[in-house]
Amino acid sequence: MSVLLDFRRPAIKHRIDFAEWISDWKGDAYNAYRWIFAPAWDDFDWYVALCKQMRTEGYLPELTVPLDVYWAFDCETMVGELYVFYDPLDGDSHIGYKVRPSSRRVGIGSALLNYGLRRLRDRGISVAYLTCGDANAASAALIERAGGARLSDKRCPGGYITRRYRVSTTC
Ligand SMILES: CC(C)(COP(=O)(O)OP(=O)(O)OC[C@H]1O[C@@H](n2cnc3c(N)ncnc32)[C@H](O)[C@@H]1OP(=O)(O)O)[C@@H](O)C(=O)NCCC(=O)NCCS
Repeated sequence: MSVLLDFRRPAIKHRIDFAEWISDWKGDAYNAYRWIFAPAWDDFDWYVALCKQMRTEGYLPELTVPLDVYWAFDCETMVGELYVFYDPLDGDSHIGYKVRPSSRRVGIGSALLNYGLRRLRDRGISVAYLTCGDANAASAALIERAGGARLSDKRCPGGYITRRYRVSTTC
């Protein structure tokens, strides 16, 4: 299924949209904002400022590569968030994505991934590297549908396994 989304950069004018988005995540199994992003749960202004800063500078010392964040809207409802790293995070992740719990399984995740691949292609990057947790069946399915070829897994401390994929941005 092909979904038409409107991609926008994070901005203060989306305060109410983001509040609705955040409330949809409360209680979901996936922790949408962790690591350096944890304050986003309750500090919208901080998060918008962070997104602006990350686009050019990353967020040192934790995030050493720039990160371009997009919010995806479907008829004025914020339904997705996309992270694009033009320099892959840890050498193996160009793109991150999440879809609000109440809007899943209608093709939004696939649309986010495709938009991210196009952004990379526009920058002259022909091969994208993607990762997902070994148990994340939804994310793995998305990547494989986009033509992802599996590379060797990465074993993280604590026994957590990350799948690694290579995807052409030109298909
Ligand atoms: C992963 C995620 C982005 C998928 O978003 P989505 O909008 O539901 O994905 P789509 O509707 O485009 O699904 C495309 C296909 O992926 C597969 N898929 C999606 N969710 C699935 C699930 N829970 N289990 C198994 N396969 C799944 C299906 O084959 C689906 O096609 P179908 O609905 O025609 O059967 C969403 O589940 C999410 O936000 N999860 C939490 C955040 C996350 O895990 N991000 C990725 C971190 S690596």
